[in-house]
Amino acid sequence: MNLDFFKTRRTVRSFSPDDPGIEKISEMIEAAAHAPNTGNMQTVAAIITSDPAIKEKLSPLHFGQPCVVQAPYIVTFCADFNRFGQWCSLRDASPGFDNLQGLLAAVIDASMFAQQFCTIAEQNGLGGVFLGTTLYNAGQIASVLELPDRVIPVITMAVGIPSGDCPVGPTPRLPLRSVLHMQKYQPFDDKEIDSLYAELESAASSRQFITENNKETLAQVFTDVRYPRESAEAFSESLAKYLSLYL
Ligand SMILES: Cc1cc2nc3c(=O)[nH]c(=O)nc-3n(C[C@H](O)[C@H](O)[C@H](O)COP(=O)(O)O)c2cc1C
Repeated sequence: MNLDFFKTRRTVRSFSPDDPGIEKISEMIEAAAHAPNTGNMQTVAAIITSDPAIKEKLSPLHFGQPCVVQAPYIVTFCADFNRFGQWCSLRDASPGFDNLQGLLAAVIDASMFAQQFCTIAEQNGLGGVFLGTTLYNAGQIASVLELPDRVIPVITMAVGIPSGDCPVGPTPRLPLRSVLHMQKYQPFDDKEIDSLYAELESAASSRQFITENNKETLAQVFTDVRYPRESAEAFSESLAKYLSLYL
């Protein structure tokens, strides 16, 4: 068993100006579409954007993250009930997916499609970064990409050839016992939490985040700076409105 690829990969946020070529990206999407999906209904779509004018429009919706303009390709993975619904209506069939169950199934499928694409890209010399901002501004991203009704943007990946100055080495992970439970979930006592997070908290990068953001703990960097409640609640409200069209 060779797990080195998985244990050493990392997200890439800065790209060489060289173009890996649309054929290569399309071929990778074709392979990624072999990811498992619900019932093989394939209610997913991927939109590849390389046109600078469209990338400029997407950029603010992804909070101005530089990779949106810099990466040669922006791939938006979507839950697509449109094509499947059209096929059903041509075949005298009535799909029952306009509900939470249907939405979650297609979101899972789009995520697995995206992750399979990510792995294929990384295994073939490319690199990239997922943009969770896709769901934050899903309605506006749908407008820019002219997504028809019942096509929902779920996750985006900016992809290209990694630039020479990308950080090397994997992003640290918590120890295995943080995520692996045998037979049944084993809750952690406070001492175990201290020990599970100790290495991450003492890493130089974590200490730098804490100092740069004037915080006392790494946890506060997540709760107060990166993912503050007010912003999560505001984006939840607009997302709930947008998704209510589908439920
Ligand atoms: C759903 C999702 C959303 C993400 N959103 C962003 C993002 O908006 N910006 C970013 O720079 N990284 C984003 N990332 C990348 C994560 O920050 C990264 O995967 C994590 O820090 C672990 O690092 P690694 O991929 O190098 O192991 C996202 C990853 C996922 C899976």
